[in-house]
Amino acid sequence: MDFGSKHTLDLTHLDDILSTFTNITQNDLIPILQKIQSSYGYLPKQVLMEMSERTGIAASHIYGVATFYEQFYLQPRGKHTIRCCRGTACHVKGGPEIIEAIKSHLNIEPGQTTEDMKFNFELVACLGTCFLAPVIMIDDDYFGHLTPDKVKEILESYD
Ligand code: FES
Repeated sequence: MDFGSKHTLDLTHLDDILSTFTNITQNDLIPILQKIQSSYGYLPKQVLMEMSERTGIAASHIYGVATFYEQFYLQPRGKHTIRCCRGTACHVKGGPEIIEAIKSHLNIEPGQTTEDMKFNFELVACLGTCFLAPVIMIDDDYFGHLTPDKVKEILESYD
């Protein structure tokens, strides 16, 4: 089974997390995974295997939950997350060109992270700000009424 990490990690965070739970059962799995992710930035294989051993929750069950929910990441994440809308309002206002501009500028596909670990790139159904179409979010910030040139400028302003 591959949880996706080859690095040796500090397991003291896991100790701290598990010590906040008593009589751990499968019902605690999601809150534990959330805490692991917020501490390590993602769900490292080594930490999940160790957690399986310490809690007695089967690794296959942990893996099943971790892959089922979109909120969990099994690979290290980039520093910033770009969410690009592929909804109808954005689509008719040039969304596909924005997606192409991001792909070509960063040399990645949706669902991927740039090699320098600076950006994650995701497509979402609607960002709820259709009046800004076409729109993207980077982390918690919205950028609307975009053009391919504007989006490249915005990406270059991040470090
Ligand atoms: S369709 Fe793009 S924000 Fe709603």
